[in-house]
Amino acid sequence: MTAKILILPGDGIGPEVIDQARLVLDWFCDQRGLDVAVSEGLYGLPAYAAHGALISEETLADTVAADAVLFGATGGPGYDDIPTEVRRRGSLLRIRRELGVYTNLRPITGYPALAGAVSLKPETVRGVDIVVVRELNGGIYFGQPRGISGTEGTEVGTNTLTYATGEIERIARAAFALARGRSGRLTSVDKSNVLETSALWRRVVNRIGRDEYPDVALDHILVDNCAMQLVRAPRQFDVLLADNMFGDILSDIGGAIAGSLGMLPSASLGASEAGRQAALYEPVHGSAPDITGQGIANPLGAILSLAMAFRHTLQQPDDADLLEAAVDTALQAGARTPDIAADGEQAGGTADMGAAVLAALAAGDGG
Ligand code: IPM
Ligand code: MG
Repeated sequence: MTAKILILPGDGIGPEVIDQARLVLDWFCDQRGLDVAVSEGLYGLPAYAAHGALISEETLADTVAADAVLFGATGGPGYDDIPTEVRRRGSLLRIRRELGVYTNLRPITGYPALAGAVSLKPETVRGVDIVVVRELNGGIYFGQPRGISGTEGTEVGTNTLTYATGEIERIARAAFALARGRSGRLTSVDKSNVLETSALWRRVVNRIGRDEYPDVALDHILVDNCAMQLVRAPRQFDVLLADNMFGDILSDIGGAIAGSLGMLPSASLGASEAGRQAALYEPVHGSAPDITGQGIANPLGAILSLAMAFRHTLQQPDDADLLEAAVDTALQAGARTPDIAADGEQAGGTADMGAAVLAALAAGDGG
């Protein structure tokens, strides 16, 4: 069956990196017979200019109807002029919630070719292969009440952190299932020495492990210690399970391990229902206003997000492997954007990096 992929390039460097991912997707359609119907929609400032909303109701409906959404980036200075209500209604957070994509997979890979560009020691990052499983539809990002109240000078800001048992159970199952298919080890992150939500999180994760995944070795780590251990000795981790905010923070450390935030892909998945699973694929980097329009953004986060779509939505693990290997080959051949260039290394632009990946694919030494 033809899979429907909706591309939302979005703001800032989003369109630039998505252009390269699109070329790679076209290569797989032409050369590997990948059966997809691709459409594009407006999101963010271009949508606001066109319809007065960050995403039109039609496009939002299209995201729900699509088998996979490939998203570029959101944000930028232009957002300051958009009314808060309009911003909230069209936010990426709302899209994640509308799609029900509560499982956010954020792989962190140590690339030997980039050892010179990483500030950590080469032997620290060599062989790192972690997946952060971040809860994406709950926690402090969505809790009520929230807001700023009171009068100027003495205002109070409020956000609320809640997790219901069912929300913890479903993300725990996703993490355990992933761990079972990898090394059989899962580390759950919390702050249970201070927070009740975390105490419940730990209790529920323990129960799911004991009752449903006794073959997976489970341990727990406090989030502050986890941040330290991730830079000190990242290879000790395989699958990390974290709530929405802890997962947001910890996954950025992945940028220091992989060489740059621009290297990091992500997949956000919903519940499997009748063989269908809502899916949103996006690079972890943001809109990067400081380099927008210069043609130097790293497209590998977007391209590797496409590889995740091959694996999780299109069920083409061979194509995913082929694409990831082509990225490795391109990096080994010296392809660099400025964010991952070590001193003395020559950096090209966004399109050069895309071309290097396509060349590796075409040479057939991508796998
Ligand atoms: C991310 C980003 C987003 C988040 C922002 C842009 C809302 O930091 O995807 O990690 O906090 O989830
Ligand atoms: Mg983030």
